[in-house]
Amino acid sequence: MGLQQGFVTWFVGVLFLTTLLLSSADVHHYEFFVRESNFTKLCNTTTLLVVNDSYPGPQIRVHRGDTVFVNVHNQGNYGFTIHWHGVKQPRNPWSDGPEFVTQCPIQPGTNFTYEIVLSDEIGTLWWHAHSDWTRGSVHGAFIILPAKKETYPFPTPNADQTVILESWYDGDYKQIIDDALAAGVSPRQPNAYAINGHVGDTYGCPNDTIFRMQVDSEKIYLLRIINAAMNEHFFFTIANHTLTVVAQDASYVRRFTRDYILISPGQTMDVLVSANRNVGQYYMAIRPFSDSSAAPIDNITTGIFQYTNSEGGLNASLITLPVMNDTDAMINFLNQIRNTKVSQNPRINVPADKDIKRRVFIALAVNNLPCSNCVVGTRLVASLNNVSYVSPSIDILQAYYNRYIIYIHGYSNS
Ligand SMILES: *[C@@H]1O[C@H](CO)[C@@H](O)[C@H](O)[C@H]1NC(C)=O
Ligand SMILES: *[C@@H]1O[C@H](CO)[C@@H](O)[C@H](O)[C@H]1NC(C)=O
Ligand SMILES: *[C@@H]1O[C@H](CO)[C@@H](O)[C@H](O)[C@H]1NC(C)=O
Ligand SMILES: *[C@@H]1O[C@H](CO)[C@@H](O)[C@H](O)[C@H]1NC(C)=O
Ligand SMILES: *[C@@H]1O[C@H](CO)[C@@H](O)[C@H](O)[C@H]1NC(C)=O
Ligand SMILES: *[C@@H]1O[C@H](CO)[C@@H](O)[C@H](O)[C@H]1NC(C)=O
Ligand SMILES: *[C@@H]1O[C@H](CO)[C@@H](O)[C@H](O)[C@H]1NC(C)=O
Ligand SMILES: *[C@@H]1O[C@H](CO)[C@@H](O)[C@H](O)[C@H]1NC(C)=O
Ligand SMILES: *[C@@H]1O[C@H](CO)[C@@H](O)[C@H](O)[C@H]1NC(C)=O
Ligand SMILES: *[C@@H]1O[C@H](CO)[C@@H](O)[C@H](O)[C@H]1NC(C)=O
Repeated sequence: MGLQQGFVTWFVGVLFLTTLLLSSADVHHYEFFVRESNFTKLCNTTTLLVVNDSYPGPQIRVHRGDTVFVNVHNQGNYGFTIHWHGVKQPRNPWSDGPEFVTQCPIQPGTNFTYEIVLSDEIGTLWWHAHSDWTRGSVHGAFIILPAKKETYPFPTPNADQTVILESWYDGDYKQIIDDALAAGVSPRQPNAYAINGHVGDTYGCPNDTIFRMQVDSEKIYLLRIINAAMNEHFFFTIANHTLTVVAQDASYVRRFTRDYILISPGQTMDVLVSANRNVGQYYMAIRPFSDSSAAPIDNITTGIFQYTNSEGGLNASLITLPVMNDTDAMINFLNQIRNTKVSQNPRINVPADKDIKRRVFIALAVNNLPCSNCVVGTRLVASLNNVSYVSPSIDILQAYYNRYIIYIHGYSNS
């Protein structure tokens, strides 16, 4: 095939693919009203910044390749941005969201419209505010269904259910992180963990609510599990049911089945569950994983996997979660995760060794730096190649776009 003919074939191919994608992709519009709202949990009322008075916030539910516009109205008391966690947004950095990296915070009384361009993401992602600790309460699911003519590379579930895991604090989230940064110490521990905004029945406050997932016998459910906690990894289980992991962070993985999963903060996992046991009510439960000396509070939070027309039968002693510091359980789970070659997954082009022209070494560290205003005279600082991040007061992307002067520590000042 001649060069020109090859090019024509390629061009027609690209045109065809583009037309295919464009003809099936939809455009969606969402309105987010972000303001403070009161929530009572653990017999204590907390004021939270949330979207549309809801904790967690509303879900976005679209198909692969669609475009989503989200008009965010800040009706709160301070500025924040929203990040579409895991959306690649090729050549669309202005809508990525990290505060002062791609935009300045949306000021109170103003609004900003994000254009979220989906490409090859498939499965579950999430959105969250990206300023200080606003992500603790301003968050929600971002569900990406297969494109119109595309199928799942596993048995089609009868229904899906979002399961958002969260850290719950009594008190003002912004105050908690501001105080910790000023004092140079780790922020305090959460008061509880929550599933879809419910702290369940283990914390002893009679008014607390528990998340219930209604299921029909013999049906298959796709759980879209999102870890929106501030810092904790979680084990998750459903008593007497097995969990089949099928996707992670909006890519399919090779299927594997376990009694529990382990999910990191920021991560998402799609899991198939078959309602194939005796009709009844079964606990679902989460507990943090940590083998660090600075362990989080070791609390189990419950939800209920409830077969239609069943009552009673809940039995907490059937919850089989690994203990918090079970490193073997962690490794055993992580070792199962493998890529899967399915047409629905994005193609990964890993460059060959010989194609690598330059290697960059990045040393990650957490150190104590002197701090005269801090409680113990030092503060914990994370760094890359000994350079720590200090949030600038201008938008770096805008500065770069306008060729403003950018100061990069240790490199140059022009
Ligand atoms: C948020 O609330 C507004 C006004 O009540 C409503 O118009 C809008 O559809 C809601 N947005 C979502 C995503 O539910
Ligand atoms: C939340 O509760 C506090 C204390 O009761 C009250 O002052 C405040 O107005 C409430 N805020 C909202 C948004 O309802
Ligand atoms: C539980 O809720 C009821 C009704 O809102 C309220 O009267 C009661 O004080 C609450 N109890 C506790 C312990 O918060
Ligand atoms: C603010 O919202 C209004 C309508 O709700 C819309 O017309 C306008 O484009 C929005 N502004 C920005 C900057 O997104
Ligand atoms: C409610 O939370 C605040 C803030 O953490 C705390 O000071 C207070 O003691 C709590 N009240 C109850 C009844 O637990
Ligand atoms: C939560 O964890 C803390 C610390 O690990 C413990 O003191 C407390 O009893 C736990 N509460 C519940 C309800 O498990
Ligand atoms: C549930 O699991 C427990 C312990 O893992 C087991 O003893 C019991 O037989 C199981 N019950 C059912 C209905 O599968
Ligand atoms: C709860 O489950 C345990 C373990 O399988 C069993 O020994 C116990 O009898 C069950 N309790 C009830 C009330 O069914
Ligand atoms: C896990 O914690 C328990 C109790 O704190 C401790 O006895 C045990 O040695 C720990 N196990 C590991 C593997 O660190
Ligand atoms: C890293 O930064 C600290 C504090 O500024 C300095 O004392 C130290 O020498 C630096 N280390 C290296 C390897 O540059």
